[in-house]
Amino acid sequence: MSDAALRRAAELAHAWLETLPERPVRARGEADGLRGPLPEQGEDAAAVIEALAAAAEPGLVASAGPRYFGFVTGGALPAAVAADWLTSAWDQNAGLHVMSPAAAAAEETVAAWAKELLGLPAGAGVGLVTGAQMANATALAAARNAALARAGWDVEQRGLIGAPPLRVIAGAEAHATVFNALRLLGLGRDTAVLVAADDQGRMRADQLARALADGDGPAIVCAQAGNVNTGAFDPFEAIVAACREAGAWCHVDGAFGLWAAAAPGRAQLTAGAAGADSWAVDAHKWLNVPYESALAIVADPAPLSAAMALTAAYLTAAGTRERNGADWAPEASRRARAFPLYAALRQLGRSGLAELVERDCALAARIAERLAREPGVEILNNVVLNQALVRFGDDDAATEAVVARVQQDGTCWLGGTVWHGMAAMRISVSGWSTTADDADRSAEAIVAAWRERSPG
Ligand SMILES: Cc1ncc(COP(=O)(O)O)c(C=O)c1O
Repeated sequence: MSDAALRRAAELAHAWLETLPERPVRARGEADGLRGPLPEQGEDAAAVIEALAAAAEPGLVASAGPRYFGFVTGGALPAAVAADWLTSAWDQNAGLHVMSPAAAAAEETVAAWAKELLGLPAGAGVGLVTGAQMANATALAAARNAALARAGWDVEQRGLIGAPPLRVIAGAEAHATVFNALRLLGLGRDTAVLVAADDQGRMRADQLARALADGDGPAIVCAQAGNVNTGAFDPFEAIVAACREAGAWCHVDGAFGLWAAAAPGRAQLTAGAAGADSWAVDAHKWLNVPYESALAIVADPAPLSAAMALTAAYLTAAGTRERNGADWAPEASRRARAFPLYAALRQLGRSGLAELVERDCALAARIAERLAREPGVEILNNVVLNQALVRFGDDDAATEAVVARVQQDGTCWLGGTVWHGMAAMRISVSGWSTTADDADRSAEAIVAAWRERSPG
């Protein structure tokens, strides 16, 4: 075991984290030093780490830092990073209890804590997965199982060929990964009936009721907590009621937005979501756990384990009473990703998580307010959460140019999008370390980029 390699990795990690707040947020360039031929001979472990760090450096993005507002990207809490290091050092296989009682216990604990924080049923089944796309796929596999079972079809046994038709209904603003999940499940990417959304991207419940009434047989409805552009929430009370009445399964993609339930000041946004049948939520976004970490939660654990459980003769020693992580998620052998989640939740506590959510929402509003005071700058959404959409000069080219300038400047990083046919800048505040000063510096950098683009 090379002690030197681990020590050097810790030093390099410290150096990176220390400079993270002040380095240009964008990458300096490509990491071409990482390309090259396969080495014939092995090398000293510490030398490998040294070379890896040097070669990666130009291509690293300070996305875990305080002024990264692109996509929906959290940082990584110190306790979670440290626990992630231990997770690698321990190298536990969290697939089976017998292979790591510690990983199994941590999974049980974080599953219970997450359900409590999100206000979801304590008896729900939980799978720990890599991200919200996989959480959507996992929860929708349970949905597929249950919806077809109601029509007398065992999809796990018999597959989809010859199965009764299964309707999938999603909001027009559903995230791309929902459709990827449907594709992975053999339900097709383009088969979902899309329900119109309102001006903030919320599914229209009256239109959903109409879509549900427009057919019969088993149905799955995909709703959303936190639109990736506006941060808006679907009206869950009405959606869940419509699903109940039609006997449809209701799934909620809450990749980042569902955490609003953990902040008393924002929880109202999620009202009714707890009545759904399944939920997908990321830990590597707003919970600030290092990648890869998310939860698939299903109110009735039976269809989840029916869709996921691992069975083979040599696995019988795994035990049936203890938790086997592989029975609740698609992977068999798997990283013990509950440890960093456990550490993040302990570092934050209930009050710390509420404060993190509130602070990021307040900072998104602060940036939006500053930008709105600037002539020619328009905020396109109601900033109800941590997302703001900004348009410059009411012009696509101007808006794209400001986004490009801000990215190049390096004070902060954010990306562009298209909202209702118009180019817009997306600002997503999801990090644990972002301060009011970071918000102000970033807003001024954005204003400067706009003024340069539009002198006078
Ligand atoms: C609403 C929503 N769902 C799903 C995803 C996909 O999450 P992941 O990249 O963790 O798979 C995102 C990512 O931003 C999202 O915002």
